[in-house]
Amino acid sequence: MDFAAEFQRHRASVEQGLAQHVPPADTRPGRLHAAMRYSLGAGGKRLRPVLLLGAAELVGATAAAAVPAAVAIECLHTYSLIHDDLPCLDNDDLRRGRPTVHRAYDEATALLAGDALLTHAFALLSTAYAARPALAHALLRELADAAGSRRLIGGQMEDLLAEKKADATAAELEFIHLNKTAAMIEAALVMGGLIGDASETDLAALRRAGRHLGLAFQIIDDVLDATADSATLGKTAGKDARADKTTYVKLHGVDESRRLARVHTASALQALAGLPGETTFLTALIESLVSRGA
Ligand code: IPE
Ligand code: IPE
Ligand code: MG
Ligand code: MG
Ligand code: MG
Repeated sequence: MDFAAEFQRHRASVEQGLAQHVPPADTRPGRLHAAMRYSLGAGGKRLRPVLLLGAAELVGATAAAAVPAAVAIECLHTYSLIHDDLPCLDNDDLRRGRPTVHRAYDEATALLAGDALLTHAFALLSTAYAARPALAHALLRELADAAGSRRLIGGQMEDLLAEKKADATAAELEFIHLNKTAAMIEAALVMGGLIGDASETDLAALRRAGRHLGLAFQIIDDVLDATADSATLGKTAGKDARADKTTYVKLHGVDESRRLARVHTASALQALAGLPGETTFLTALIESLVSRGA
């Protein structure tokens, strides 16, 4: 398998899907739809949609059947970034190599563009999978759980509450990472599995892989914030220390964080290895993510 070519194949499906399944920038009101497209079009790694497509193929679905769900999860993720960058949250000026939406437009437009991308994700799932109502229901429920108050938003809330906290525990930090980040990565793999009618056992293995991959991914994000530069990241480096965030680097240091990321990566790969299908692509993708922070 040529990993780079496979990644490119999935990525191209995501880009085509985004062009097809998100309202064009000139849809009225133009300012809102342009802001939604501005952020989506800036790129990013497309990790969650590619994981979703990879999981769908792993369990025997076609990538084509999974493209609308891949677009939905990228819309939801992009909304979470637009809001994460707002002055009342992380107050960031740079995202995906461009000024953040509230800098390029204004705060109100960024808030509304995020709201619209969030809602669009669910509208897209409900229409694209209408011919398979049980699947549509399962996908909607999975994404709603992952994006809700107990998971993504709960993690974001505790991330803010843990700023400048001198006595944050490792367990509190794990809650933050499991929810603000791992929830969506779990959902990506599970939604791919659902599209291929994976068994309960295989869905549980995908969820376990996503949980560990999500933790590893956010630990590496913390390491990169402390060790890489803004040009490489396409977002402001060093901002966690400035905001005194509770991160793996703050609690465990860079070296131990890298070790913990490798431990969670190994657990993710182990969960994946229990699946019956062809796991080569997802294995290579997971390995490539941990090496970003090495
Ligand atoms: C950023 O996610 C937010 C985190 C959970 C660390 P990504 O690093 O996947 O951001 P993009 O999509 O590539 O821009
Ligand atoms: C963000 O975590 C997680 C989200 C749900 C958006 P961070 O705040 O560390 O993400 P970056 O570093 O700004 O991308
Ligand atoms: Mg944040
Ligand atoms: Mg942030
Ligand atoms: Mg970060």
